[in-house]
Amino acid sequence: MEKINGNAAVKFFARKDIPLEMHKVRIVQSLKLVPVERRLEAIRSAGFNTFLLGTEDIFLDMLTDSGTNAMSDNQISKMFVADDAYAGSQSFKKLEKSVLEVFGKKYILPVHQGRAAENIISKAFIKEGSLVPMNYHFTTTLAHIQINGGKIAELFRSEAMKIKSTDPFKGNIDPEKLEKFILESGPENIPFIRMEASTNLIGGQPFSLKNMKEIRKIADKYGLMLVLDASLIGENAYFIVNREEEYKGQTIHSVLLSMCDLADIVYFSARKVTSSRGGAICTNSDELYNKMKHLVPLYEGFLTYGGISIREIEAMAQGLLETIDEDIVKQSPLFIDYMVRELDKLGIPVVMPGGALGCHVDATQFVAHVPQSQYQAAALVSAYYIAAGVRGMERGTMSSTRDENGNDIFSEMELMRLALPRRVFTLSQVEYAIDRLNWLYHNRKLIGGLRFVEEPPVLRFFTGRLEPVNEWPEKLVEAFRKDFGESL
Ligand code: F0G
Repeated sequence: MEKINGNAAVKFFARKDIPLEMHKVRIVQSLKLVPVERRLEAIRSAGFNTFLLGTEDIFLDMLTDSGTNAMSDNQISKMFVADDAYAGSQSFKKLEKSVLEVFGKKYILPVHQGRAAENIISKAFIKEGSLVPMNYHFTTTLAHIQINGGKIAELFRSEAMKIKSTDPFKGNIDPEKLEKFILESGPENIPFIRMEASTNLIGGQPFSLKNMKEIRKIADKYGLMLVLDASLIGENAYFIVNREEEYKGQTIHSVLLSMCDLADIVYFSARKVTSSRGGAICTNSDELYNKMKHLVPLYEGFLTYGGISIREIEAMAQGLLETIDEDIVKQSPLFIDYMVRELDKLGIPVVMPGGALGCHVDATQFVAHVPQSQYQAAALVSAYYIAAGVRGMERGTMSSTRDENGNDIFSEMELMRLALPRRVFTLSQVEYAIDRLNWLYHNRKLIGGLRFVEEPPVLRFFTGRLEPVNEWPEKLVEAFRKDFGESL
């Protein structure tokens, strides 16, 4: 070691991996952490379904980023100057302007949220026997396609299902599989190809711009339409400019424009993309616009408010402009990346590389001793809530459906999703979430399975109720008390 004036000089290495927040927090909401005994009571009365918990019993709400991202000061201030009108509002004009600037689309049909866009697109284009190839489904997308008589085909590459991978674009569609599927099914039975940006259910994994260009080429070859689910488009564009050699150093805005230009229809949940409310369907085609336009006043509201308040139209218009600001868009992916790498260091199985939306813990490995028929991911989500007061979301077989014979269709992945909504949590809260998960991992053998006691016929994960197969939740609380003493 070098000596300066007789003292050992310490070589200083600046850390480059601190996920810095490029914002300050000026409005806050208080949180409470209820004791572990209360958490057990709460999850029991919620039917071991975290959707049915009340926020009074939740410390960190990592259920979703939908409608829970922090809004900006600019978004909130715009809400005060909304031009309230049933028809012809000037606020809607601002939204049109934002969509043209950010997505390069001249028509916009506002709707009350993302699934309402899926309802309208499905009503307009899906009929009995329709087949929709895609990278991966989202729960509400699948339900809308099925309810209109269609089926889906998920044409991902095998890498997409690998939990720990270094593949930067696990959300890609396999072009060979797609072409084979089109030839076998007949292009006349395919109303559109769907690409979901930052593919939600496989861990928020993006697709590359190169892949989207290849899929567009195939769509053109067979005269097919390409529909982009842009609910997490900002993050997907961020991953492209950071992970795809050809686009490194480009702006998020230019990548967004290229992505949208490749799609005939772009739809999104504004609850995610702009951290406000609402959703929209955008296109440049007169024909497509006219095919969907009449459905908006029927299901949503007039064409200039789409079922949400004009204040929310203002927040959406401003939020869209913020989607091209890399400092804003990267905040959640950076925190996710940090959390994923820390959990991996502890040997906890998580989807890698880190994607958008949240950190995804692999329940298949975490609770390998619980059979898949006893809803591994749902069991882990309940156990984690008991251990930490953190609300995650089940993304596995409980979020799936049953086949014609009433058997569970097992999900390819059993994930516990811990969402990191944009600009909501601090790094110490993330550290707490990691620490409690580490404790649970060391006590994972205590976690047991669940079974349904009340099962709705569609989207059962929202309101279904379950019960533990034995007394495992009580044993978990006992172990918690032994290790944590009096603390919560
Ligand atoms: N598409 C994707 C990719 C989504 O992630 C969502 C919602 C929707 C469509 C539907 O939008 O909720 O506004 O009706 N995802 C939320 C989530 C619910 O928690 O992942 P919505």
